[in-house]
Amino acid sequence: MPEPVTQFRLERQGDVGVVTMDNGDADRPNVFGRVTLESLGALLPELERETFSALVITGKPGSFAAGADLAEFPKIQTREQAITGSRVGQELFARIRALPYPTVAAINGAALGGGLELALHCDFRLAADDVRHIASPEVLLGFVPAWGATQLAPLIIGPEAAIKLIVHNPLRQNTMLDAAKAAAAGLVDAVTTPEHLLDEAAALPASGVRPRHGSVSIERQELDEIIRKARSQVDDVVHGAAPAPYRALDLIAGSAEWSIEDGYRAEQEALADLLETPQAQASLYAFDLVEHRAKRQVGRPDIEPRPIGKVGIAGAGLMATQLATLFLRRLQVPVILRDLDEQTVARAIESIRDELASAASRGRIPQEAAVALASLLSGSTEWKGFADCDLVIEAVFEEIEVKRQVFGELEAVLSPECVLATNTSALSITEMAAGLRHPERVVGLHFFNPVALMPLVEVVRTPETDDATLATAFDLATKLRKRPVLVNDAPGFVVNRLLTRMMTVVLGAIENGNSVEETDEALLRLGLPMAPSVLLQMVGPRVANHVLRTLNEVYPNRFPLSPTLANYANGKMEIAKQGQAPQSGDEILNAAREALADETRHLLEEGVVASAKDVDTALLLGAGFPFFLGGITKHLDQTGVSERVAGGLLAEVGEGARA
Ligand SMILES: NC(=O)c1ccc[n+]([C@@H]2O[C@H](COP(=O)([O-])OP(=O)(O)OC[C@H]3O[C@@H](n4cnc5c(N)ncnc54)[C@H](O)[C@@H]3O)[C@@H](O)[C@H]2O)c1
Repeated sequence: MPEPVTQFRLERQGDVGVVTMDNGDADRPNVFGRVTLESLGALLPELERETFSALVITGKPGSFAAGADLAEFPKIQTREQAITGSRVGQELFARIRALPYPTVAAINGAALGGGLELALHCDFRLAADDVRHIASPEVLLGFVPAWGATQLAPLIIGPEAAIKLIVHNPLRQNTMLDAAKAAAAGLVDAVTTPEHLLDEAAALPASGVRPRHGSVSIERQELDEIIRKARSQVDDVVHGAAPAPYRALDLIAGSAEWSIEDGYRAEQEALADLLETPQAQASLYAFDLVEHRAKRQVGRPDIEPRPIGKVGIAGAGLMATQLATLFLRRLQVPVILRDLDEQTVARAIESIRDELASAASRGRIPQEAAVALASLLSGSTEWKGFADCDLVIEAVFEEIEVKRQVFGELEAVLSPECVLATNTSALSITEMAAGLRHPERVVGLHFFNPVALMPLVEVVRTPETDDATLATAFDLATKLRKRPVLVNDAPGFVVNRLLTRMMTVVLGAIENGNSVEETDEALLRLGLPMAPSVLLQMVGPRVANHVLRTLNEVYPNRFPLSPTLANYANGKMEIAKQGQAPQSGDEILNAAREALADETRHLLEEGVVASAKDVDTALLLGAGFPFFLGGITKHLDQTGVSERVAGGLLAEVGEGARA
């Protein structure tokens, strides 16, 4: 669907001018495309002739401006086009900055990227207290802000805060500022209620507040130190694998001595250089997957989901406890837990109540809500209280016999319509459901640890799962504010299968004489969020070994058992040397890429997912793979590995294949 065009519209209110940005579509945020900039260009001569006491620039209800229209980026084919795109925006915004009367951005909704850059060109910024999204996310997308933010933000909020806004926040899971945090950073001058926003914005210039611009001064030596520290923090996150954050730091450093014109030109060059990089191409692809495709819920059956008025959870361990907290907070329905002994149940209930209380003390939920939600929680060592559940999810030990027994016991008490879900990491759900009277209501809902943070849910369909169950699973994931990806039942599904395959390369290298540090270093060059050894600790060697064994049973050639991992799982930190020659870092990295390409090909050939885009979405949202790898298949295509290992490009495989 093409983006609706955002237009700039001027109204006069006495001697105050109010410019509103509006795309006429209540459901979609304002974005700046070519036609939008033309509409600003058409309005500027009139603004330049005016003698307002103040000009207020604001957005339509709910949206200030979400930045450049990313749908236009694929049309940028040459350096000249990139430079022009940057220059045109800068020139227009510079004319707002040069208006002969005070200008105020009245930030009434999300102000992202170019939207925030427009606000930075105003003398003042005032935000409504309900605004939650103020950010410069460009670095996450593989380029830099190039409508002035790298030059103006350091002068308005200081280089340290500018680095946080432009470099660190995007890399930190695209962190955005709410109005209060933006005020604390100095990015907005004040915060008010939405009802008073426009009046207070109009009155702000006469209130005695001074524009912050230019109020920051900093010694060269101090700035160098700040930039050096920031560069090393960026190294820790991307390990040199993505150029954009480094380039953004160069621009911020330069702002201290360049004229604004020189700064604008440096931004233009940086944008042109970066848009050509594979990382920017992969990032734009990844952004589209996460922001558009994942929200479309590809594969969701077009029928009514069943309502969920009560949830049961089998188990009260690590995952069950986190799941209960999530269900309570997002669904606000009764939740009942069951484990084998009183102590485990009591411990889980206490920890969930603590979590709710802590959310209240951090202002995430009202105090009364925490108390009300806690009263919806109960626990038992029996199945008593499960009969009227609409959904039960099991999170008991990862053992097929235990899970089968739990499902069998549950079926005896549940209604046939109750959805029966499993959070298994790798086991066959088809096998788990075999022998049940109603296998059609069994579905996998594979959440990732930590549950509160990881956005992905693998929704696993067995050959028996019916559409009503699947629609309910998708609906549930949405209500929990997670992103569901549909997968067919196969060991390890997508994320665990790919991570485990990658881990076989790492373990193989270690057993052949490479050090843990060498293998970590080699894999980190991909730009992964954590070293393999850290990932292994997070997952837990016992769980990792369990998943490997499950995969080894089905695919013994590609998933060889690792005596070293078996040692770790048994608490022995002993490497089982195989005596072959150690590899170079390049060889290890290459082997990991080839393993990922090969396993992705198998996932697609087996039809575990219908499209490579599902593989990428799953890795981005479930394993925290960075945007600049485009999940993984874009990177494998760009580096020629797909061609070599899978006989062709992977990223487009399967698109449109699913009805
Ligand atoms: N830990 C992770 O990172 C993670 C991530 C995703 C999925 N999972 C999956 O979630 C499930 C649970 O994992 P966990 O890490 O929470 O394990 P855990 O050991 O912390 O909890 C399992 C709980 O199940 C209970 N239990 C065993 N048999 C039971 C029965 N018959 N009835 C009720 N309770 C019973 C145990 O007493 C224990 O408290 C596993 O299938 C695991 O593979 C784990």
